[in-house]
Amino acid sequence: MLVIQLKSLQREFVKKLEFRCGQKEAFKFKNDNTFVKILETVREDDVFVVQTTMPPVDERIMELLITVDALKRASAKRITAVLPYYPYSRSDKKDQPRIPITAKLLADMLVTAGVDRVLTCDLHNPAIQGFMNIPSDQLKAKDILISYFKPIAQSGNVTVVATDAGSSKKAYKYAEELGTSIAMIDKRREGNDDRAIATHVIGEVKDNVCIIFDDEIDTGGSILETINVLKQNGATKIYAACTHGILSGPAIERVKNSNVEELVITNTVPLPPEKRIDKIRVLDISPLFGQAILKIYNGEGVGDLFEDKKMEF
Ligand code: R5P
Repeated sequence: MLVIQLKSLQREFVKKLEFRCGQKEAFKFKNDNTFVKILETVREDDVFVVQTTMPPVDERIMELLITVDALKRASAKRITAVLPYYPYSRSDKKDQPRIPITAKLLADMLVTAGVDRVLTCDLHNPAIQGFMNIPSDQLKAKDILISYFKPIAQSGNVTVVATDAGSSKKAYKYAEELGTSIAMIDKRREGNDDRAIATHVIGEVKDNVCIIFDDEIDTGGSILETINVLKQNGATKIYAACTHGILSGPAIERVKNSNVEELVITNTVPLPPEKRIDKIRVLDISPLFGQAILKIYNGEGVGDLFEDKKMEF
């Protein structure tokens, strides 16, 4: 087995996986084209290419595709793209005229480049797995987040809050496992910009500690709106949690200045030092990826790493 890491910031993530890292060189020609060379033989190897996708996202996707092409042409036996965060996933349907479905486009590009299998985590929409005509495994950060919030949930009067109707099914699972009540925010987006508007709370949050769960926090607009609405409706303490802390643009300032007690994220997307603030706690998800990679390599089932023991939505 060979694990190849791409770009520097994810070294921490790959290092924690505790696998030997394959050597490669990558650089840009003066004309901005990327060149990749694998520096050891990969003939008949089971190769896992780990690509975390923080900005510059397009550049990282291109480097991944070029690396996979190089591995394929070097006779690797099987290539698994490990994408802790699957980028371009928020465009997953054609709900306006003349727009792309980038989640599907990326799936096609991975297959065209030569990817045989994808290992990812908490897709924005689980249907994205169906966009790939190759095997894919979707890990879930739920158990890691549940373990963290269990002691808080046991303190009583806790409500799990879904940021919108789309995330309510997931929130049900969290509430069920934490043994809390549930509430949902009526959230709308206007146009294609990043602005989210939260208006009402459906459910009871007055005098309650609220824990907001989302799949990702990007600009922090949705979470900020949610926090404000919960506060206006009498929540005492508010925690927020998500798998993918993208935290782009104004997100850090928004979190810093908000009424949130703590924002808990995982390291599917590395948090650069300049974005680390006291209010943000990062949980390490790399052991879960490490287990999945080993199981895939050994031809074992990975279902027990993401299967919901109770109801499935
Ligand atoms: C939306 O559908 C997602 O679940 C997240 O709520 C969204 O990606 C967060 O984006 P932002 O932080 O920019 O509001």
